[in-house]
Amino acid sequence: MTSSVAIARIGEIDEGKGKAFEIGEKRIAIFHVDGQFHALDDACPHAGASLAEGYLENGKVGCPWHYAEFELTTGRHCHSPATCGVTVYPVTLESGEVFVEVI
Ligand code: FES
Repeated sequence: MTSSVAIARIGEIDEGKGKAFEIGEKRIAIFHVDGQFHALDDACPHAGASLAEGYLENGKVGCPWHYAEFELTTGRHCHSPATCGVTVYPVTLESGEVFVEVI
């Protein structure tokens, strides 16, 4: 079952930045890039770094520890040392808030 959760105010996440939020037992990174918001699992599958603290480049987030890269729209990994991607979550904006659909 999925539910849509208000995770942040739109103004809370600066353009070109990411920020991590706790939703229940999940830690989700929200990225604000080119006016769009993206939600991905925050923990890098390689060794657990916070992707919210990574660098953003060409529609991807790069892990701050060992530089694995993940597509913001799909979560697909596109650079080692990660060997798998991360889950992405649908995002909607409403009444100045960022809503994330979590499972
Ligand atoms: S923890 Fe992310 S690449 Fe190693």
